[in-house]
Amino acid sequence: MDANVQEKPSLPRLGEPAPPFEAQTTHGKIRLEDFHGSWLILFSHPADFTPVCTTEFVAFAEIAPELRKRGVELCGLSIDSTYSHIAWVRNIENNFGIKIPFPVIADLNKEVATLYGMVMPGESKTEASRCVFVIDPNGVVRAMIYYPLTTGRNTQEILRLIDALQTTDQHAVATPANWKPGDKVIVPPPATTDAADERMKAGYETKDWYFSKKAV
Ligand code: BEZ
Repeated sequence: MDANVQEKPSLPRLGEPAPPFEAQTTHGKIRLEDFHGSWLILFSHPADFTPVCTTEFVAFAEIAPELRKRGVELCGLSIDSTYSHIAWVRNIENNFGIKIPFPVIADLNKEVATLYGMVMPGESKTEASRCVFVIDPNGVVRAMIYYPLTTGRNTQEILRLIDALQTTDQHAVATPANWKPGDKVIVPPPATTDAADERMKAGYETKDWYFSKKAV
């Protein structure tokens, strides 16, 4: 390949193993495999000591107890040094009274950011975009969210996404648009004509043979 042509980083894919990494963080060295057995939300932010990122860190810290209840760990990342991260989380605690309970990767050489396709050169060559990777207890990528530099993420939506993933895993169902815990879920459509006939009498809330809901 021409030395001037930069190879595009490959992006993680849903349903495939998350790229393994080892990284320096505010909680010491961390490897992806350390999270095996837990759900993990790995998220990137553009830069320490910036306002939107600060609101996001506060918001992630606020949902951390709810995530813990669901067996979910958080890990942040930016292309900043550990010293910058330490100073920033101390600054957040001083200014907002919120302690950041999760580790933050100092990815100065962009190693993890490149593995996960977090840098969008069209937006910034030196900062990670606002990415969220939901990785399940088996290390498989289950969801990805990419937001631009200028839009802070909705952490209630991230909590809802975790609830949806855990509900669909537990009950082998799917969740409809705008689903929230307590709402009915979608029963997978039948795959044969016989099953379609049966579905009409199965006792679900059925609109048509392919569209059934049930409570879980
Ligand atoms: C911010 O967090 O405020 C921010 C960071 C990078 C670009 C734009 C906004």
